[in-house]
Amino acid sequence: MNDNNNNTFTLDETGLRNAWADTPISEWADALIDAANQRMSGRHHGDLPRWRAALGSLPELPVSRIELDHEAGVAVLTDADIAADKAAADDDQSSTDAAAHSATQSIESELLNDTAHAYPELVSALQGLKPWRKGPYRIADVTINTEWRSDWKWNRVYPHITPLQNRTVLDVGCGNGYHMWRMRAQGASSVLGIDPGVLFMLQFQALQHYINDKAVSILPLTMETLPTNMHSFDTVFSMGVLYHRKEPRAHLAELRQAMVPGGELVLETLVALGEDESELNIEERYARMRNIWSLPSVPLLAKWMKDAGFKNIRCVSVDITSQLEQRTTDWMPYESLAESLDPENKALTVEGLPRPRRAVMIADAPQN
Ligand SMILES: C[S@@+](CC[C@H](N)C(=O)[O-])C[C@H]1O[C@@H](n2cnc3c(N)ncnc32)[C@H](O)[C@@H]1O
Repeated sequence: MNDNNNNTFTLDETGLRNAWADTPISEWADALIDAANQRMSGRHHGDLPRWRAALGSLPELPVSRIELDHEAGVAVLTDADIAADKAAADDDQSSTDAAAHSATQSIESELLNDTAHAYPELVSALQGLKPWRKGPYRIADVTINTEWRSDWKWNRVYPHITPLQNRTVLDVGCGNGYHMWRMRAQGASSVLGIDPGVLFMLQFQALQHYINDKAVSILPLTMETLPTNMHSFDTVFSMGVLYHRKEPRAHLAELRQAMVPGGELVLETLVALGEDESELNIEERYARMRNIWSLPSVPLLAKWMKDAGFKNIRCVSVDITSQLEQRTTDWMPYESLAESLDPENKALTVEGLPRPRRAVMIADAPQN
């Protein structure tokens, strides 16, 4: 993105082309850039100047280590942070349990007191990009305690996938890119994320400002506006997107078109209860969300995937979302899962439907 001062969105085309050079994505550079420009043309976003100002005010930091798999999230650390962490770990050495407890505590008890931090301007720049939904992240001594513990989702997913070493990866609906950094940490050679959310894009840029890894990039596209028949990605992730689509089967067909023959699909989505091929149609809202259309049972979802041509389909995890995984924090101060559940019966949403449960499905694209 260029840092111009109006409320329209422009791409840093040269930066993207350079980032994609020597990857299979480069063949599609013109088509991707055209698609993104077309999607954003004429769109104005009232908050964009403010978000750009926040991004532009990120201070330079003496970064000495990037840890994409840090226990406190994707982490950008200075020597002072590393020394402080070591001192804290030495204090906790008496018990491994105590150390693990303290790592969790440090995410949960982070206070937004900018004067207590080594770089107060870092805190205010990052606060200018609130709400932060996906994370956590740690930049110097600031822990961005996001609404979601996205690391928990990653822990449910990555033990089951084909190792990402040297693979070209697409993350559909990547949000601010949290999982893209985790994918890169597993050795993916390039990771492209697409997401229509403009704030997410700026949050991604804030991390990229420090991590500066050209193998990870993002475009403001929906899956529907990605060029068709790319057949370029070894692994395609679609996590938390299917239920936002009125035509979920079309989404599965689009995912397949993006994949190389024999590539791997990792699909994570909300599902309905049920051991038969059934579907819960949502009339108005689900867990207070308006943009949810229907929830398939796992067997119906598997059938949809089979109909879309996928092979070797398996469900590797079904998990009820807990209020520890999705909650209000200093960095996302609005209502969260707690307010979406029936206060009298936490097994139900406020609409009286079964509370959110999410499945992880893995499948292969056919060989031809
Ligand atoms: C629930 S969030 C999931 C974010 C992340 N993938 C995760 O699992 O934590 C859904 C994301 O999908 C994006 N999204 C919604 N519809 C989409 C579409 N048609 N194509 C691509 N992304 C979409 C939203 O902007 C949002 O960031």
